[in-house]
Parts: sequence; structure tokens; C-alpha cells
Amino acid sequence: MGLYRAVVQPLFFALPPEGAHHLANRLLGLPLPWERIGGARADPALEVTLAGIRLANPVGLAAGFDKTCAHLDALGRLGFGYAVGGTITRAPRAGNPKPRIVRHRVRGSMVNAMGLPNPGAEVAARTLARTPHVGPRFASIADEALEDALATHAVLEPHVDAIELNASCPNVSWGRDRDNEAHLRGLLRELGARRTKPLFVKLPPFRAQVEREVVLALARIAVEGGADGLVCSNTRPVADAGLAVGTGGLSGRALFDDTVRIVSEVRAELGAAVPISACGGVFTAEDVLACLRAGATTVQVYTGLVYRGPRVLRELTSGLADALGRTATGLGSSAAE
Ligand SMILES: Cc1cc2nc3c(=O)[nH]c(=O)nc-3n(C[C@H](O)[C@H](O)[C@H](O)COP(=O)(O)O)c2cc1C
Repeated sequence: MGLYRAVVQPLFFALPPEGAHHLANRLLGLPLPWERIGGARADPALEVTLAGIRLANPVGLAAGFDKTCAHLDALGRLGFGYAVGGTITRAPRAGNPKPRIVRHRVRGSMVNAMGLPNPGAEVAARTLARTPHVGPRFASIADEALEDALATHAVLEPHVDAIELNASCPNVSWGRDRDNEAHLRGLLRELGARRTKPLFVKLPPFRAQVEREVVLALARIAVEGGADGLVCSNTRPVADAGLAVGTGGLSGRALFDDTVRIVSEVRAELGAAVPISACGGVFTAEDVLACLRAGATTVQVYTGLVYRGPRVLRELTSGLADALGRTATGLGSSAAE
């Protein structure tokens, strides 16, 4: 058992989830040897191009871990192929009342109802401007009003390599009390005239047929509207009595089977051209491989980092490089761009 699992993880898990999250973010602010701590394998076979952005490996950090965009440099040095900061909104948000994260350790899952706490776009942009840009970094954005989304995008885009539009958060009203399709179409039209960098759209998960139709319609609108890629998916809405607000988004292992299914269904619907990032329950190199086989170009990880610690990067990249070595293939040529 490594040092992290023997010593560090028990300390983190002795804290309430949000306390552990704050501690992790404080540690990321220290000048520690992050490359060695993550231990990601550097191997040309792992390199992949995502919407024109060259990545050292296909393992990204999902949105929500670095909500202030203060530690994307340390997270890049840890070995993520790219790291998504935020979600950021135009105005600062305090988020929902606490407790707003519950761990379900046996299931390798969590439920959160953070409600997008963040410092607001101007502050996040200043943070990004003074943070070393060590590896590919994206900003996740989500505003309910069109003009706010355009303003957030304009303020953040100069400081990142791409923007991820969060069209899927279960903890804010985006998507529940409006005409989603018209909103996404209008937003992409306006952004199309302004943006200079790749734009990804993060979609909600689906299980029931009616949800499937809604999400596939959003996926088609995203691609027709010029999005450079999709992220499938976000957390699944569930009730949880441990949360102050009573409902939140389920993340982690419990999502994995759905992630593979959703990626392959979206891939089948849209054809090979649009890159898809698989997100939800990725914990092992076999998981990454399953997502790539289902049609993903990259994966994104959040809960796997919480439960497996920073060495998850070594496990994912080494396991993937070994598997590719056995089949004598690289990712760069096989992945859709
Ligand atoms: C505590 C927490 C906060 C999150 N915050 C965000 C967020 O701000 N924006 C977003 O797009 N996704 C957010 N997510 C969702 C993750 O990005 C990811 O889509 C989801 O957790 C599934 O991946 P995982 O199973 O690897 O965690 C959050 C997840 C957790 C656990």
C-alpha cells in the first residue's frame, strides 16, 4: 500500500468531505514535487489531440475540483493531460447551504449539492492571469442568462486553452425551467461570432428514453452550433438525506456503466467526427480503455482522484500505456479530433 493510502487518505477521510476538499486545495498551493507525487507516465503513445489541443495523455481533471481556478498549474504538473477549472459564473456565488457533499465510501461514490460556489468571472480571470500556464487548462462556465454567459466567456477565454460550457449541473436551475434547446442554440450562435478557442459542451446523463431524447437533441444542437466536442456526462440527480438541500448529484463508481453506455450512444448518434470526453466513475486504466473503445477521445476524472489519491494518475497512464504497447497502437491516430 502506498504512502497516500496508508497515511494521507485516512487523514483526509477523517475530515468532513468539504474540509478534506479545502485541505487538498491548500496543499495544491504549496511548492511540492507534484510531478513525482502524481507519477504520470510520459509516453508518446498516450499523446492525443483534442480539438487541436495537444495533450500528453487523455486523462483530464473534471470540473468542480478546482472551483476557483487557483491550482490548475499544480494539477497539470500532477500529470493530468488537461485540467478543467470552475464552474465559474459571471457573479460570485456562495452556493447551497452545508452540508453539501456526502461520501458513500463502500460504493466509491459521493453526492454533492454544491450549487456552483465560485469567486465570479473577474476574480477567476485575475487568478488565472497570475498562475503559471503549465499544461492545457480549460474553464467551465455556466450562467442562466445569455448576456451573463457571454460576459463570463469573454472574461475567461483569453486565459485558458478552451471553454467547457456546463449545460448539465443538477444543482442550479439551468436546464429545468427554461427552453433548454432554444437557450443552447442561441448561446452557441452568439458565442460562434465571438470565440477564438475551442468550446466543449458538458451534457447531462440519461437513462430513461425520454431523457435520452432530450440529451441527444442537445448533443445535436451543440454540434450543429459549432461546439468542438462534448463531455458525457455530469452527475446523476438523486435524493440524499445527508445533504442540507435533500437532493444532489451522484458521482463515482455508480456512474461508470452509464458513462460507457452514454458515450457509445452519443457516438452512434453523432458519427465519428466530434470528440467526446467520457466523465463519470473512471477509476482504473481498464475504465479508461472501456471509454476509449466506446468512442471517447479523452476521459475526465474527479471522484477517482478523491478515492484513489494522486497516484491514480500513475495507475491510469501506466496501465493505458502498457495496454497500448500490447496492441502496438497509439492514441493520437485513433482518436477522433
Ligand atoms: C463535489 C463536486 C463538485 C462538482 N462541481 C462541478 C462543477 O462545478 N461543474 C461541473 O461541470 N461538474 C462538477 N462536478 C461533476 C464532475 O465534474 C463530474 O462530472 C462528476 O463528478 C462525474 O465524474 P466522477 O465520477 O469522476 O466524479 C462536481 C462533482 C463533485 C463530486
